[in-house]
This record gives sequence, C-alpha cells and structure tokens, in this order.
Amino acid sequence: MLELQDLCYSVSGPEGETDILKNISLTIPDKRLVVLTGPNGGGKTTLARAIMGLVQPTGGRIFWDGTDITGADITQRARMGIAYGFQQPPRFKGIRVRDLLALASDKKLLPKGEACSYLTQVGLCANDYLDREVDTSLSGGEVKRIEIATILARHPRLMILDEPEAGIDLWSFARLTETFGEIHARQDCTMVIISHQERIISLADEILVVDKGVIARRGDRDEVFSSIVCDTMSGCPAVFGREGKR
Ligand SMILES: Nc1ncnc2c1ncn2[C@@H]1O[C@H](COP(=O)(O)OP(=O)(O)O)[C@@H](O)[C@H]1O
Ligand SMILES: [Mg+2]
Repeated sequence: MLELQDLCYSVSGPEGETDILKNISLTIPDKRLVVLTGPNGGGKTTLARAIMGLVQPTGGRIFWDGTDITGADITQRARMGIAYGFQQPPRFKGIRVRDLLALASDKKLLPKGEACSYLTQVGLCANDYLDREVDTSLSGGEVKRIEIATILARHPRLMILDEPEAGIDLWSFARLTETFGEIHARQDCTMVIISHQERIISLADEILVVDKGVIARRGDRDEVFSSIVCDTMSGCPAVFGREGKR
C-alpha cells in the first residue's frame, strides 16, 4: 500500500515561495490502477517524482508497505519495487535495447524470448529493436515504449508512468493500453498512471484530478470522467454557443 501524508513541495524563486504540492494525503491500496489527470501545471509530475524519490518533498511523509520511505533515495525505492517512467525518458548513447532490458531484469543474460515478450507488449518488434542503441536515432515514441518495456522487465510492485501516451502513434497506443489492461487483470502490481487519454482513464479503478497542487476530485471512473467532460466542455463556444450554454 502506498500512503502519502500531508505531502508538500515548495520552491523558492525571485517572487518568493511557490507551493507546488499542498498537503496531499492519499492512500492507494495494492493492485489498484489509479489514473492521475488534470490540467497542465497542476502538479502531477511533481507528485509522481516525489513518490519515486526524484524530488524531496518539503513537508509530509511517504509510506510504502508501512515503511516510511520519505528519506529513501531512488535506488533504495527501486529495490523496494517502485519503478518510474519519465514523461520524457532519457536516451543512453552506446547502450543497446537488449542491454537496458537485461539491466532492468537483473539478469546478466536475458533470454531473447523474454526480451522479445517485453518489447511485444509495448508494440515493438524485437528483431528490429534489440540491437538498436537507445540514442537520438530513436523517435520520442520509440524511446518511451522502450522505457516502458524496461519497466515491465523489472517486474515492479508499483509502476508509476508519466503520460505513457505521449508521442506514441494510435496503433502502438492501442497495444500499450491493452498491455496495461492485461497487467491490471493479472493483478501483478499497483499502477499509477498520469494520463489525459480516455482509453487509459477507462481502465482506472479510481481517477484523481490533480489541480493547483491538490487532489481536486477523486472517485471512480464513471463519476469523475463525466464531470471532467462537463468541465472541459463548458464554455466551449463550438459546443455550447457563445454564452457557454447549449
Ligand atoms: N523545480 C521547480 N521550480 C519551479 N517550478 C516548478 C518546479 N517543478 C515544477 N514546477 C512548477 O510546478 C507546477 C507543476 O508542475 P508539474 O508537476 O510538472 O505539473 P503537471 O505534470 O501536472 O503538468 C508547474 O507550474 C511547474 O512549472
Ligand atoms: Mg507532467
């Protein structure tokens, strides 16, 4: 179980202190698929990074399976089974896809069949990619899918993915959402996915709307999703007329 207690993150700049996360308290039971959504700049990425240990919260505590991990670094959290997929994954010049997968799986020699299965799950053909370097020759969508494949190879207990849909074509995206659905159905791990995509949102047990550094709304997909649609559509002149009314 993941538990956040009064989590805060503030930064100081020339105009003083800015609160990016404001006293977020949240419990995510094991094996749930939770989608974080909400407007740009709401604090979703910062929240995800705080859970992974990429930013140190300025207040509050984080518990994983009852252990206080607030002070644990990213490596310690990774050892505890937490994995994170970046909104914009890094590239590694000189490292091949097969090396990254082997590293993630913690096996010196990762059987080709196993490597292939991780790539297939993200819609990539192993023959085309296993020996490619994870450098700038790969598109953003390819790097993103390779990173997700390495997360699958890690068999984490908590998977945090930041906008996995970004830069991915429609066909590969369909394969990816299918994979998320399968992982969830197998109850392999807890999944926290930041997304704006209806297909991913529709997989969620629970949706959290993060806005202005707080959980503005939470609930099951039916209640929250319909209210998001209402919010985002109101005021749209094309749909509601100039006065914002239908
Ligand atoms: N280190 C930082 N310094 C200053 N502002 C930051 C920092 N990190 C995040 N922010 C700001 O915090 C807000 C939330 O960012 P982010 O978590 O990336 O939002 P989201 O992922 O929901 O789009 C944004 O306004 C962003 O510019
Ligand atoms: Mg973000």
